[in-house]
Amino acid sequence: MPLSGKAGVLQARPVDAKELDWLQQGMRNVGFFSKLGRAQLAEVLPYMLMVQYAQDSVICQEGEPGDAMYLIYRGKVVITKKEWKDPVAVLEDGDFVGEMALLFGEPRSATVTTSCLTEVFCLAAEDFKRIVDRSPDMTRTLRRLAEARRSQLAKS
Ligand code: CMP
Repeated sequence: MPLSGKAGVLQARPVDAKELDWLQQGMRNVGFFSKLGRAQLAEVLPYMLMVQYAQDSVICQEGEPGDAMYLIYRGKVVITKKEWKDPVAVLEDGDFVGEMALLFGEPRSATVTTSCLTEVFCLAAEDFKRIVDRSPDMTRTLRRLAEARRSQLAKS
């Protein structure tokens, strides 16, 4: 995925040992990963990239096709929608974004913008799909979370 060169991307590189540890320990509590077995987790980790975004960078743009999902390692993002006056949500460390377009095969439902220097783990759509295909349990959990987000958007 051509991330370096994208506006706001300060750095894109493989996950280091400390981050790997955070993923292995902490992510077990997060919806997306908590349903993954150790073997499945080990399978996906090599595909994740650590991407550092400057403040006020757009990670996902409403209406565009989705090519990746993101797990927030450190930082804060604001979710906005064109026709909404107020932000839809603010998400921080341990949360994830960009899953809806990949799960539902739809354009990005909202815009995701960093509100400070933010580091995310990026999982490309094709690697995401590989996990989804192999892990129905995890996919059900993620789909439930994504559907709740989608119904919140429908309340505009
Ligand atoms: P996606 O539609 O791929 O791109 C925009 C992302 O914003 C979306 O995936 C979700 O990750 C996130 N998002 C959309 N609606 C909400 C919501 N109601 N609460 C939290 N996050 C949301």
